[in-house]
Amino acid sequence: MISKHSHRKDEHISLAEKFYQDTDVFAPLRFVHQSLPKYALSEIDLSTKIGPINLQIPFYIEAISGGSPHTKDINQKLATIAKKTGLAMAVGSQSVALGDASLVETFTVAREVNPDGLLFANIGADKTVDDARHAVAMIDADALELHVNPAQELIMPEGDRQFNFLTNIKQIVEGLSVPVIVKEVGFGMSRETIQQLADLGVGYVNVSGHGGTDFAEIENFRRRDKEMAYLKNWGLTTPESLMESRPFQDRLTVLASGGIKSPSDIAKCLALGSHAVGVAGTFLHLVIHENIDEVIRVIEQWQYGLKTIMMLTNSKNITELQKKKLILPLSLASYLEQRHLT
Ligand code: FNR
Repeated sequence: MISKHSHRKDEHISLAEKFYQDTDVFAPLRFVHQSLPKYALSEIDLSTKIGPINLQIPFYIEAISGGSPHTKDINQKLATIAKKTGLAMAVGSQSVALGDASLVETFTVAREVNPDGLLFANIGADKTVDDARHAVAMIDADALELHVNPAQELIMPEGDRQFNFLTNIKQIVEGLSVPVIVKEVGFGMSRETIQQLADLGVGYVNVSGHGGTDFAEIENFRRRDKEMAYLKNWGLTTPESLMESRPFQDRLTVLASGGIKSPSDIAKCLALGSHAVGVAGTFLHLVIHENIDEVIRVIEQWQYGLKTIMMLTNSKNITELQKKKLILPLSLASYLEQRHLT
């Protein structure tokens, strides 16, 4: 019989796909076009770094899958795509496998398929240092994503009602030898949150903002009563969250995810200061609807698309792209003013 944890993992996949939509929080932000490109396409360098980790491509497959037979298949497909394209990949939360050995293979499949690839482990910040070490060792991970998801938990009838994130995060950051990336799950991060994380010694954050997969909507749909519908759209968008991270970008490595649907969205996250960009909902949507070769073609097209934007903004590499100023819509300019971020 399928466990209730595995059932929840399958539901997350089907509901993320059911609610996958074309909202675009990035469209109103614009680059300044340059008509006289300084660099040839062959000179554009997409490589970036997450601390000691070198990425040839500045976007990666964000945490989605694992924890059930169906999500094992998805991890297998995603890992095949990661191997063939050179993308880094995060597995979904391994928490379920810490207490159920039969689920371990739904995550280790990602390492078996792609022995030399960059792989990120993932657990919740409610877990201990030992759990964190176990998750990293399970897939021989290059980094650990530690997710904070209080909004999701509070909407889930079976979710947590109290959080000891700060103590756990501090111990895990101090106790692990690989980079620990504290990440949201699509509700974004405020300056206050990032300040708290910086004070704990966290070196890497993924703001994972609102604009794509909405776990408030997903968890509300899973409830018998639908009373939490008012939290749909809760959170800070990915552009807002990146703006909130600005004061810390000289101290912390900032990553982004949440609502990425195109190379232009990736370029905008990089220009707002992120070092790399995770894609969950859109890649899930693609693997559900397309065969592996088609997904690989799309990812190669995204790399070309990102290079064209870098040519048209005279950015030779990611460091130069990070210095480009975007034109902001009035709503975002007003947000910055109200948050004293200008
Ligand atoms: C997720 N996400 C997620 N994040 C995490 O840290 N651990 C997890 O186990 C999961 N599980 C998960 C399942 C599914 C089906 C989806 C679509 C997403 C959240 C994900 O990594 C990301 O932070 C958000 O989805 C926002 O990015 P997108 O989906 O808008 O690109």
